[in-house]
Amino acid sequence: MELCVIGVGYVGLVTGTCFADLGNRVVCVDTDKPKIEGLKKGRIPIYEPGLEELVRRNHKDKRLVFTTELKEGLKGAQIAFIAVGTPSAAGGEANLEYVKAAARGIGRHCSGDLIVVDKSTVPVGMGDMVAGIISDELESRGAKHAVSVVSCPEFLREGSAIHDFMNPDRVVIGCRDRRPADKVAELFKGLPGKTMITDLRSAEMIKYASNAFLATKISFINEIANLCERVDADVAQVAEGMGLDGRIGSAFLNAGAGYGGSCFPKDVSALVHIAEKEGYEFRILKSVMAVNEAQKRGVLARIKRLMGTFEGKTVGVLGLAFKANTDDMREAVSLDVVAGLLEKGARVRAFDPAATEHARRMLPQAQYCEDAIGAARGAHCLVVLTEWNEFKELNLAAVKKVMKTPLLVDGRNLYDPAKVKKLGFSYQGVGRS
Ligand SMILES: NC(=O)c1ccc[n+]([C@@H]2O[C@H](COP(=O)([O-])OP(=O)(O)OC[C@H]3O[C@@H](n4cnc5c(N)ncnc54)[C@H](O)[C@@H]3O)[C@@H](O)[C@H]2O)c1
Repeated sequence: MELCVIGVGYVGLVTGTCFADLGNRVVCVDTDKPKIEGLKKGRIPIYEPGLEELVRRNHKDKRLVFTTELKEGLKGAQIAFIAVGTPSAAGGEANLEYVKAAARGIGRHCSGDLIVVDKSTVPVGMGDMVAGIISDELESRGAKHAVSVVSCPEFLREGSAIHDFMNPDRVVIGCRDRRPADKVAELFKGLPGKTMITDLRSAEMIKYASNAFLATKISFINEIANLCERVDADVAQVAEGMGLDGRIGSAFLNAGAGYGGSCFPKDVSALVHIAEKEGYEFRILKSVMAVNEAQKRGVLARIKRLMGTFEGKTVGVLGLAFKANTDDMREAVSLDVVAGLLEKGARVRAFDPAATEHARRMLPQAQYCEDAIGAARGAHCLVVLTEWNEFKELNLAAVKKVMKTPLLVDGRNLYDPAKVKKLGFSYQGVGRS
């Protein structure tokens, strides 16, 4: 099929590239000129395992094209995907200006009948609003194209985005009419996972409800962890035992320094806001947010417990990205922790395998190191904030040798407390006995 993807970020670039790899012709459109120029030259703007090779191959084979001109992208397109950002606005609600701008652009520039698929995470009712915006634009230029709006929320995870796209647990397609929904479903034919066709609003709600539920699991296990510390139980054992129950499952039961990232914080907040607008107080989610904030602050408290004071001390930080296998720093726990350390008078030596360039811009006062050992060198305390595999396999004996004092705060519970203590570290995990 001929596809247009509007917004070439983490979701848009992966979506466009994977659809091209499945044999479609895809034009990716973004307003960010340097990004598009870079992509044309094979420069990938994000760190995502496997993406570079896939983009280059499909671009070379001319199935994947990049442009800043929406008109060019929509020419001949049968389906256009909206994959622009929906960040949090000041009040916690989703900022919909980019989605609205994309919808206006579609109405102004589409040159034939079109199915518009919303992949951006948007509040319930946005699909209808997008349809309204497009139809107003079409009317104002006297165009008679038939445009249907479909919601197809994205569930990929950064760090394993290509795998997730190609192996979805489910594809959710929401639409008023069956025909465009079936057409969109055709694109996913051959991929595993169930395709669920539903109404527009339910599809929009499925995305928010899914993210909110996963965030709830994280905050729940974090509260269990905090209690484990008080009753001398080990949350890793507790989570394992809980996860063996098929009704519960082990995913998202890793206690730690709290969730961050480009989705959970903004989507939980947006759902609370949607509820408020409807006169409903979403009490669970308000608690989920509060627990998460406290959990992030808890990292500083743990460091203080081991180190005593911050003033004049050096803290090595391992991991800046909000999770492993990405360079994404949006709402990363490291932003709060590093800023807090600096504010309290500590020096920070930090390392991340992929996110250092972004971190340099966001946290310029920290010192950035080439590797984990570099971050530990001369540090009074080492704190782990991202669960990168290379940190799990760190030679802690060598790390200890370069540190001033062997204090370790494990914000992701990567290490076995007994082994680490045996090496001579004072160790603080989250919820470990
Ligand atoms: N990142 C994820 O893991 C993830 C997962 C599932 C769903 N989502 C949702 O997908 C959407 C996109 O997220 P993302 O992380 O890819 O965002 P992003 O910020 O990485 O990318 C958005 C892109 O859209 C471009 N853009 C903005 N307005 C535009 C316009 N009018 N025309 C063309 N391009 C425009 C921006 O320049 C940017 O490149 C969001 O709603 C997000 O909640 C994200």
